Amino acid sequence: MTAHATSNLPVIWITGASSGIGKAFAQQYAKDGAHLILSSRQVDELEKLKSELTSFSNGDILVMPLDLSAGDGSLQKKTEEAWAWKNKVDVLVNNGGISQRSLFLETDMKTIRRLLEVNLFGALALSRFILPSMVNQGSGHIIVTSSVAGKFGTKYRSGYAASKHAIQGAFDSIRQEMYEHNIDITLVCPGPIKTAITQNSLTGDGKAFGKMGDLHTHAMDPNEMLRRIWPKIKARKEEITISGPKERLALLLKRAAPGILNRILKQSKVV
Ligand SMILES: NC(=O)c1ccc[n+]([C@@H]2O[C@H](COP(=O)([O-])OP(=O)(O)OC[C@H]3O[C@@H](n4cnc5c(N)ncnc54)[C@H](OP(=O)(O)O)[C@@H]3O)[C@@H](O)[C@H]2O)c1
Repeated sequence: MTAHATSNLPVIWITGASSGIGKAFAQQYAKDGAHLILSSRQVDELEKLKSELTSFSNGDILVMPLDLSAGDGSLQKKTEEAWAWKNKVDVLVNNGGISQRSLFLETDMKTIRRLLEVNLFGALALSRFILPSMVNQGSGHIIVTSSVAGKFGTKYRSGYAASKHAIQGAFDSIRQEMYEHNIDITLVCPGPIKTAITQNSLTGDGKAFGKMGDLHTHAMDPNEMLRRIWPKIKARKEEITISGPKERLALLLKRAAPGILNRILKQSKVV
């Protein structure tokens, strides 16, 4: 591909790119043709992904490590670095996140704050710092990996559901403010997807759960998830739900008969 052709490729910045859904986002964008910025904490995993993508991608790839809980100053610098790479960012995929496996009464407040710091404030900070440049640019797309836990809470997920409900509300507001600036917001709400999310989930004292749960062992593969939602991502849909039949039914009940859903969830054995 000529230098001129590659200079027209979009720049896509993905957080949580070292694993699961973020990695699948990177693979899908690389197939389409894009310059990619890969972010998360594990540099080795990001470098491995870069080598894999370089074998077929026609765009450039920048590994840019970051910790979503590092605070506003650090995340502002990362945003400036990301923008400076190609003097633009067309799409920010706020995907990095952690889940929870602990009852509320067995969860330290610092664990709940960590869930909100990574899942909510990390994504809000990157968006807050990049949006002024997107507004100047006159275009942009922010994708957020929320969850069906952003629609209804279940046992063992109080902090996680709080972070995902908050992110839904925040980005609904941001979408309305960004409409006049030609910037789109897409909230993706997956049900269980087969990734390392359960192993990496926080227990009450903040340590990793460390094992795969039943819910995710037979869940959808992340590449299959991306394949299914890709046309909607490209169409910049406002919200995309991708889940199995149980979660689809729960979402329906949440809207049409929330009392029935609450009764079912109170008696359910979620872990
Ligand atoms: N899998 C599911 O069933 C499911 C369902 C609904 C929503 N989601 C959401 O999908 C997103 C991706 O999760 P996944 O399923 O792909 O899980 P995963 O395999 O555990 O991946 C999580 C990603 O987030 C990154 N991350 C975690 N803490 C971070 C931090 N402090 N700073 C920067 N990056 C951090 C991890 O990278 P490092 O360890 O390298 O930092 C990793 O790349 C999350 O927002 C999750 O809530 C997942």
